[in-house]
Amino acid sequence: MAETLRAVKGMNDVLPEDSGRWQAVEAAFARAMQLAGFREVRTPYVEPTPLFVRTIGEATDVVEKEMYSFVHHDERLTLRPEGTAGAARAYVEHGVHKNEPVTKWWYAGPMFRAERPQRGRYRQFSQIGAEIYGDPGPGCDAEMIHTLVEFLGSLGIQGLEVLVNSIGGPATRARYKDKLVAFLTPKAAELTADSQRRLGTNPLRILDSKSPQDQAALVGAPTIHDAFDEVDIAHFAELKSHLDHLGTPYRVDPKLVRGLDYYTYTLFEIKGAKDKLGAGDTLVGGGRYNGMVQELGGPATPAIGFAAGLERLLIASERATAPATVVDVFVAPLDKAGHGPALTIGRDLRRAGIACEVDTRGGSLKSQLRRANALKARFAVILGDAELKEDMVQLKDLEGHAQERVARGELVSAALAHLGRAR
Ligand code: HAM
Repeated sequence: MAETLRAVKGMNDVLPEDSGRWQAVEAAFARAMQLAGFREVRTPYVEPTPLFVRTIGEATDVVEKEMYSFVHHDERLTLRPEGTAGAARAYVEHGVHKNEPVTKWWYAGPMFRAERPQRGRYRQFSQIGAEIYGDPGPGCDAEMIHTLVEFLGSLGIQGLEVLVNSIGGPATRARYKDKLVAFLTPKAAELTADSQRRLGTNPLRILDSKSPQDQAALVGAPTIHDAFDEVDIAHFAELKSHLDHLGTPYRVDPKLVRGLDYYTYTLFEIKGAKDKLGAGDTLVGGGRYNGMVQELGGPATPAIGFAAGLERLLIASERATAPATVVDVFVAPLDKAGHGPALTIGRDLRRAGIACEVDTRGGSLKSQLRRANALKARFAVILGDAELKEDMVQLKDLEGHAQERVARGELVSAALAHLGRAR
């Protein structure tokens, strides 16, 4: 026997039973984005490794240990771990700022991170996300958060919680880093080994630590707000006031720093459906990153964006749904002579927009009707010997069980009428 090959750990198949729900969420997202003036961008799945090192940051978990990187003909390449860096690269590469003062893009697609797989955390996962270039906010920040909350609500996700924070401009961050290091250095021995190392590389990440030991050491630590300047204070106050105007409930979490280095000013996360997702209940992460475009060789351009994990949205919005109809009509020829006419009937039904499957294998009427029911077909077109001779078919209603003889030339109109569709 041949050895059975399995999918790579943490990378999953989506079978047809489930792909309908994926399509529905993707379509709802595309619609929500279109309503808000965003257009779709598609960027490659593989990017130069330095793109992610430079933007996400050398001392982040993603760059340190989660990237799928390889060298191909002397080129350092990486399977994209997220969409923001690639979109900004495209924005700069195509000189998009020359064409429009504000650019609004959305995207959807697979991302890759070598994380420890668990429910809601995978090595290949899908994000839906959006980015805005050219608007310094905070009006568009609030609008983005609000649009997201409405979208998540429309998916029926319960228990949404919006966390917002600001980490101010780059100077604030540097000032705060110093304050935090000064506070934690005397307590270094109380930190976990990981956080002791971060104290030297990326101290803000310690705030994100899930370890009770680190959290205990952080009690009484200064928050980033203690390092704010006037611009930071005004930007954050305005964000909150816009959210209040929009009626979007939120909670300020001064410890929210997020795991990617590129952020400035506004940060946010949206959690939800804790009962279904447990600890991995962060549905959306996002924030402002005013330095990235310039860092990639473009002009100084403010930017903000978010991404949501599609798998998590699907778990969070899980509902018992009836199996979907695969085809409207099933065409059942009872013997070989009927196969040719069955194929032309199938062709004619599809030309009229009626989804149908033709049984091209042969078999008893009973087995063919079993197949029709499995496909949730509304009608079966049965071609028996007697009908064929008279150029007729039997049209059987698989829900009401009524059956009528219809002339082959009338079948498409009859099927459309029964399905309640106009010709
Ligand atoms: P992120 O927080 O790394 O941000 O990811 C955003 C969302 O992607 C998470 O909240 C989660 O729902 C999903 N996600 C992340 N990793 C995994 C995984 N291993 N398995 C399943 N789902 C996952 C970003 O990626 C930023 N690019 C967001 C952004 C856009 N910031 C500005 N613009």
